[in-house]
Amino acid sequence: MRRAIYPGSFDPITNGHLDIIERGSKLFDEIIIAILYNPDKNPLFSIEERKALLEQVLPTINAGNCRFIVEDFEGLLVEYAIKRRVDTILRGIRAISDYEYELQMALMNRKLEPRIETVFLMAGEAFSYVSSRLVKQVFALGGKIDGFVPPLVEEQMRKKLNNKF
Ligand code: PNS
Repeated sequence: MRRAIYPGSFDPITNGHLDIIERGSKLFDEIIIAILYNPDKNPLFSIEERKALLEQVLPTINAGNCRFIVEDFEGLLVEYAIKRRVDTILRGIRAISDYEYELQMALMNRKLEPRIETVFLMAGEAFSYVSSRLVKQVFALGGKIDGFVPPLVEEQMRKKLNNKF
């Protein structure tokens, strides 16, 4: 069985992430979507909220027989991968600007654990400029984000914003 871990912050999940997961589902039988628990960051959504959003939007993509598991992890990604007995990390590349950061992470992970390989998929060009960070910024400043995140995510972001004021 071909398995991969797709790690990230997913704060929140965007249509760009879903595009990579859908593409990955053609290559893997099981994808573990692993949300990094980072106590240093001040996220918009808690880990539990991000997990719940992912679990609700994953069934909306065309994933064939691929099985999805949503989990969170803390600490080194390669250690988590070893613990889960997965030897492939899946990451998406949107534009050349992602390359350097991704290369650094992939090479560091390879140095830490040579048995683990990172596989990159190119995001669809419609998502080349979509990131969780920009989506949050645009939304907080009153811009439109439909098409960048699933409607459910936008709804939850609206609730968060309304609760702030
Ligand atoms: O979606 P993101 O925020 O770009 O994802 C980054 C992530 C979670 C893949 C990365 O920060 C990570 O793997 N963190 C775990 C810590 C770790 O293993 N660091 C060493 C390898 S660079």
